[in-house]
Amino acid sequence: MPLTLTRPALIRSANFIGGEWTVATGARLDVTDPATGDTIACVPDSGAGDALAALDAAHAAFPAWRKLPAKQRAAIIKHWNDLVLAHQDDLGKLISREQGKPLAEGKGEVAYAASYIEWFAEEATRMNGEVIPAPVPGRRMFALREPVGVVAAITPWNFPAAMIARKIAPALAAGCTVVCKPAEDTPLTSLALVLLAHEAGVPPGVLNIVTASREKTPEVVDVWLDDSRVRKITFTGSTPVGKHLARRSAETLKKLSLELGGNAPFIVFEDADVGAAVDGFMAAKFRNGGQTCVCPNRVFVQRRVFEAFAHQLAARVAALQVGPASDPASQIGPMINGRAVQKIERHVNDAVAKGAKVLTGGRRLAELGATYYAPTVLAGADATMACACEETFGPVAPLTVFDTEEEVIAAANDTPFGLAAYFYSQDVRRIWRVADALETGIVGVNEGALAAEAAPFGGVKESGYGREGSTHGLDDYLHTKYVCQGGLD
Ligand code: SIN
Repeated sequence: MPLTLTRPALIRSANFIGGEWTVATGARLDVTDPATGDTIACVPDSGAGDALAALDAAHAAFPAWRKLPAKQRAAIIKHWNDLVLAHQDDLGKLISREQGKPLAEGKGEVAYAASYIEWFAEEATRMNGEVIPAPVPGRRMFALREPVGVVAAITPWNFPAAMIARKIAPALAAGCTVVCKPAEDTPLTSLALVLLAHEAGVPPGVLNIVTASREKTPEVVDVWLDDSRVRKITFTGSTPVGKHLARRSAETLKKLSLELGGNAPFIVFEDADVGAAVDGFMAAKFRNGGQTCVCPNRVFVQRRVFEAFAHQLAARVAALQVGPASDPASQIGPMINGRAVQKIERHVNDAVAKGAKVLTGGRRLAELGATYYAPTVLAGADATMACACEETFGPVAPLTVFDTEEEVIAAANDTPFGLAAYFYSQDVRRIWRVADALETGIVGVNEGALAAEAAPFGGVKESGYGREGSTHGLDDYLHTKYVCQGGLD
């Protein structure tokens, strides 16, 4: 099926460097529909030369962009937000087509992305510093906030618009310039967003993007890692890649924001409203077919409410409509690629081999295509199973029974990861006790949908560091300069 947009020019097939769509001379990379494997478009499979050209452009553009009054930067970013919303339908189609999420979710992601762009446009004018009381006469002391410099943004495929927005909007707001490498599976949405940023008035060189395949990505990123002109790396993706970036950028001591893997616990205490817990779980787990790093990966249910929760959940999950993104009835689309389905299958098979029972799902949906997996609920999961130790990144809910609060806190924290956690309880004392005890950067209490542009998003432990969204998300693109003026007495 051809990709038809109201504005076909949003489909770009070149890198954007120094304000120009650069005609690619080298290899090309096919962008495919995850539902069918059909090629939708081609983009450059860039290499070191493109990465360097993008960096040169970003470096050259930095002095003028940082000097532009914040109000003017804010107006440009706000205009970008308006254009993104004006193209919501087309961008939603692009997201769904290259990433596989149902169309309604694709459009929803555009609004979600725009909420970050708007927020950071507004924050640009509030980058206040401090006047510090001097300890001696005749001095004035200031803490000024300055942009860190050129930022390299490496973005994931699961939210091709939102992740670009919440990295690039604060960078631009702070006065930084950007080189970006979008995920190899979903470059089209990113290129369209960059086109709209350019049309909104982002000056040449301020925002540059180069696309590359999985194989060529290290060549691109190494150029940025090795060059001291890149002052910050922002990355969303796996923990092993995040550690690699941290190691490699140590040589030039770049600032880092790493939003890495998760292994979120979802806990249902016996004093919870079980119906609300099921609703919250559905919202948290099945968004984007379970392909989010904050979605619950391990589900702990207290013995007294286990049967009720498992029964209601299995019924809701069995009723989920699985199908292509283009079908308005679809609630769960294809997984991003064959490797993703293999991992899900491995986790389910391993759990079943170790004694878990399939309450619903538990199989590929080959009748729909090679990348579909049935939403699945497993009972009898335990900590020895792969699904408890690794992020499944798919529509699988492994349920474990627990007896005491102490036991479940220990189990929830028994992971190197610490991105999100969720729990349901109606006991106010327990709520604060458990929220304090969970070792994660984000906690949902009686709520499954947590992310918001005004809230700090990010992890602890091996889920990374740095925050996206909120005022903290702007701080990550700034450093503090202390200025002391003497001789004033
Ligand atoms: C992610 O999965 O990386 C982001 C999810 C979100 O923004 O809620």
